[in-house]
Amino acid sequence: MNELHARAARFAVAAVEHARSLHRSPLAPDVARLHRLFTSDRAERRPDYQRDPALRRAYLGFFLPFNAVKIALLLDRARREGLLPAPPEPAVLDIGAGPLTGVFAAWIAYGRLGPCVAVDAAAAAMSAAEPLLSVIAHGGVAQRAVNVALRPASSYLEGTRPHLVIVANVLNELRDPRRGADTRGQLSADLVAALAPGGRVLMVEPATRVHGRALMVLRDRLVAERQVSVLAPCRGATTCPLLRGRGDWCHGEHPWDPPGALAELARAAGIEKAALKESHLLLAPRSEAPSAVGLRLVGGPMRDNSGTERRYACGVDGLATLVGTPGLPRDVVDAARGALLAPVPAGLGIELRPSRAPGARAAARGAGRSRPRARAGAGPRRR
Ligand SMILES: C[S@@+](CC[C@H](N)C(=O)[O-])C[C@H]1O[C@@H](n2cnc3c(N)ncnc32)[C@H](O)[C@@H]1O
Repeated sequence: MNELHARAARFAVAAVEHARSLHRSPLAPDVARLHRLFTSDRAERRPDYQRDPALRRAYLGFFLPFNAVKIALLLDRARREGLLPAPPEPAVLDIGAGPLTGVFAAWIAYGRLGPCVAVDAAAAAMSAAEPLLSVIAHGGVAQRAVNVALRPASSYLEGTRPHLVIVANVLNELRDPRRGADTRGQLSADLVAALAPGGRVLMVEPATRVHGRALMVLRDRLVAERQVSVLAPCRGATTCPLLRGRGDWCHGEHPWDPPGALAELARAAGIEKAALKESHLLLAPRSEAPSAVGLRLVGGPMRDNSGTERRYACGVDGLATLVGTPGLPRDVVDAARGALLAPVPAGLGIELRPSRAPGARAAARGAGRSRPRARAGAGPRRR
């Protein structure tokens, strides 16, 4: 177990124990109820659900650890791809922090923190997590009760400049995922403008079709308006190719084995968590150009009757299909959705969708000895 995973497990166990200590009643039924309010019964969720003590406790004991670890693994992936600087004392701004999830995620990812600011419309959601700050031995989290849709970052940052802003599972609460594009666009540009030099804004949303597509719409808008750079998951395509089919959306997965206490709670609540899934955007100021090298895996492995294996991937020229006859290399088959192939392993067939064929050479530049061939290919698998 590496240090990040050890911190993740320690934090997850502490979160479950803390939530259990708050009330004698079993935690699992409330977790199941809150899970339904985030999924099948979404329409019934009230905007102030964090003010309900039972739901707040369920969030603390279940959604906080899963979300914090998911964000930490995403930050770690970005760091390994060279997209996320690691300052000695990372100053974090957690927007729509809830129980300080972004702060805990940054601690799990970096193993250290500088001064942090947490912002949420519901003060109780933030203060409920204060006892857990002792787990990370960090006392410096300033909490601000603010509606971020109405107030600019300058009003709560008071002159400080964060290295990392985390906006996790918040955009969809600002407005209906299909509406509110102006609010989300303004918030994104405002937060990027508030960054310290080399800073990043990480936006994370649930990996569902409606939330993923809303994030992709925001991504295309930010790219078109040339306000900020989108460093991940994209490789610099001008428009998101997955928005063309109505059933497609971009999301990634992060395998993680939760510690026993959290795994047991998930089982008792009837929630299956095979992998941590997310849709995200990593933003930087416009001056930092996104890399156009390599291909990001956006689909799972597919195998046809002849044994040929395929995976969908996304690059600067849009959607491509990696083709292995008879099979793809094991590491390409086994790589998690959202992993980056840069460079793409030599010898893979790369089929570009016909509309993107004129750019085939550019994708091949990041792809070693690939063989670009335009074809009338299938789109990404419907998920
Ligand atoms: C689903 S929770 C996410 C909490 C945490 N970021 C996480 O990922 O676990 C959404 C949070 O956003 C907050 N929120 C929603 N709309 C907001 C707004 N306009 N301004 C500030 N916070 C908001 C809610 O109070 C809630 O705590």
